[in-house]
Parts: sequence; C-alpha cells; structure tokens
Amino acid sequence: MCSRVGCEGQTLKAPDYLRDLEKFGSVYLPKWCEGLSLQDAGATIGKVLNVQELWPGAAVPTVQRLEAREPAAGSGRRYSDIYGRKRFPFHTDLAQWAIPPRYLLLRCVNGAVGVRTGVLDAAYFINIFGRAGAKRALFRSRNPISSISSGGILPLLEDKGGREIFRWDPEFLLPANASAAEVRDKIIKGELSFINQAEYFSLLQPNDALVIDNWRYLHCRTEVPGDAERVIERIYLTEFHG
Ligand SMILES: [Fe+2]
Repeated sequence: MCSRVGCEGQTLKAPDYLRDLEKFGSVYLPKWCEGLSLQDAGATIGKVLNVQELWPGAAVPTVQRLEAREPAAGSGRRYSDIYGRKRFPFHTDLAQWAIPPRYLLLRCVNGAVGVRTGVLDAAYFINIFGRAGAKRALFRSRNPISSISSGGILPLLEDKGGREIFRWDPEFLLPANASAAEVRDKIIKGELSFINQAEYFSLLQPNDALVIDNWRYLHCRTEVPGDAERVIERIYLTEFHG
C-alpha cells in the first residue's frame, strides 16, 4: 500500500511530484490548475509535446479530447472506436511510434462515478518474460503510415539513449517474430490477472489530473456506465520537472 495523494484513500503530507513519478510512475494532481488550459497547465510542470509541430497534419492533436461513447465502425484508430464504453486493456500510448511520448497527462473535464484509470508497472511483465526475453519480442506497427509511426521493428523492451522503453498495445502492434507472438498471446490471455496488480485513480472532479510515465508504466480505463458523459483531455510531455 503506498502513501501518496489519490491512491485509493491514502494521503500524503507534502506532495513531492518528482519523487512520486520516479518511484511510482505516476502523479495524481487533484483539482489541478483550474482556469488554465491543459496545454498551459502542462507547461507549468514540464515540456508539452506539440504533436502538430512535430508532425503537421497528424491525426493526433496536441490536446486530445477523449469522450466515452459507443464503438465507431470504420477507422478504429482510437480505443473508443474499438472498445466504446467497455474497459480499455492495459497499454502504453502510441506504442507504434519509433519513440513513444515520454509522459501522458490526463485531466478531467467531466467525470463519471466509478470509472478509474489503472496504472501498472511494466516491471510486472519484464519479470514474466525476463529482460532478455522482452527485448527479443519484436513488433511492428499495424499502420506504418507516417514518419513518426515507425515502419520498422519495435521491441517490447529496448534501450534508447541510456533509458529503457517498454511498449505494449494489443491493437496497434503486430508480432514480427515468434517471441513476440508468444508474448502477445500471454499478455492478452493474462489481461484479467493484471487487474489486481495495478494502482487505480479516479479522475472524477473537473481538473483532477494524472501524469503517467509512458515508458515504464501501462495504463487502462475501467468500464464507463452507459448513461455517463465522461470527458478527459490528454496531452503528452517530453520532460517533467514537477
Ligand atoms: Fe492510453
């Protein structure tokens, strides 16, 4: 049981966001930066990834509005299109990019009672597959269509400039070798057993926010009731300074 703000009933005397992010892989920010846009709020704690500048015309805007809704036939580019209001499986964001965004920042616009965001340490998977096994599992993007989305090989775990990046996405990564096929099968079959290994946060009140280390932690969203209008905004950060 941890001792930080927002973690299922626990409180922290003096928030230390940098410590939390390093130690737990996520930082909960209740009613955070009211009156500031998410992009401006993000700039107070880190460096915002300007997706449109990096990738003009990208389907991913810098500030993304995530609305719970019924699945959409057709594009299947977002989890909402595929899963609708059902539980989203554990994943890392933009795992199909050559270098996925370092951090994601979610902030509540309109919350839904009972809906939670789960955060799961990738070490859990690395322990299952072994560090060498995770590095041997090679994936490729389902849609290698852009300069950011890599058309190349994407290991489950890799070293990049002295840091390890763990990536996983059951929808947008396809196995490129036998190790990856085995890993994919085990993760998908084991999805329900991971639920109790995660920490959960409620983004219920407007401006409740959560930063997640997207290179070391996976996240999921629990089911959204059919009558709830849940809206979350999301940006990505390339740096976090607290
Ligand atoms: Fe996500």
